[in-house]
Amino acid sequence: MSSPRVAIVTGAGSGFGAGIAQRFAKDGVAVVVADVAEEGGNKVAQDIVAKGGKAIFVKCDVTKREAWENVLAETTAAFGGVNFVINNAGATYASKPVLETTEADFDKVNDVNLKSIFYSVHVMVPALLETRKKGGPAAVVNVASTAGIMGRPGLTWYCASKAAAISVTKNLAIEFGPDQIRFNAICPVFGNTGLKHMFVGQASEEQIIKTIPLGRASEPEDIANSTVFLCSDEASFLTGVALPVDGGRLA
Ligand SMILES: NC(=O)c1ccc[n+]([C@@H]2O[C@H](COP(=O)([O-])OP(=O)(O)OC[C@H]3O[C@@H](n4cnc5c(N)ncnc54)[C@H](O)[C@@H]3O)[C@@H](O)[C@H]2O)c1
Repeated sequence: MSSPRVAIVTGAGSGFGAGIAQRFAKDGVAVVVADVAEEGGNKVAQDIVAKGGKAIFVKCDVTKREAWENVLAETTAAFGGVNFVINNAGATYASKPVLETTEADFDKVNDVNLKSIFYSVHVMVPALLETRKKGGPAAVVNVASTAGIMGRPGLTWYCASKAAAISVTKNLAIEFGPDQIRFNAICPVFGNTGLKHMFVGQASEEQIIKTIPLGRASEPEDIANSTVFLCSDEASFLTGVALPVDGGRLA
């Protein structure tokens, strides 16, 4: 990828998002690290800059429209536009039987995992249309989950929010195909990140890993490589895809 390209990565202060931001930077893409967590977000941006890459941190709560508008303004001021938007920030409640889940659990996963994409679309798609008018590439990747494709009892509302993220991805791919804005989803399996302990529930980590044919949890590098590929010119005919990055879990 050539250096003028610009990526906004939400939830890039840790876990998969940090890996995605670092991977983009390695390819010369300028990165906007957007996260509600200031310490982690600042550190990721500073590390990228220290290694010779281009990055800024913008504090952002993806559940607020104004935060998205601020991210776009800061991105435009720093880098002149945007090519790639990675809707990665996500949240869950700790795995529990559905009858023990609360309305707050439901609202949390739907606000952070789904409504955030509503704001992302309304704020970022007009900017991506401008990018396309100038002839630049434009792509969006929504970080969903294998849990959006298969059942994961104990995480019913989380699964539903991720299934919705996949549905949104497909609909947007169709609607903005004529504009050449591509929308794809990544579906990670159980991964080594800060959210991991919330997914475990009554099963042990070892039992979960046994269900993954390649015999390990996903790592930020796995998710980053696939996400950056989906934004690359090599993926220019891929849109509406929900790509499992799952060591064969869904096979
Ligand atoms: N770890 C897994 O097993 C797994 C599996 C499948 C999908 N996912 C998805 O991957 C994505 C990244 O999660 P992760 O596993 O790297 O976890 P993580 O906790 O390491 O990272 C999530 C990041 O999102 C940020 N965030 C949370 N709420 C936010 C908000 N309202 N606004 C802005 N930022 C916010 C957090 O500060 C954090 O930096 C999520 O969408 C998650 O659902 C994770």
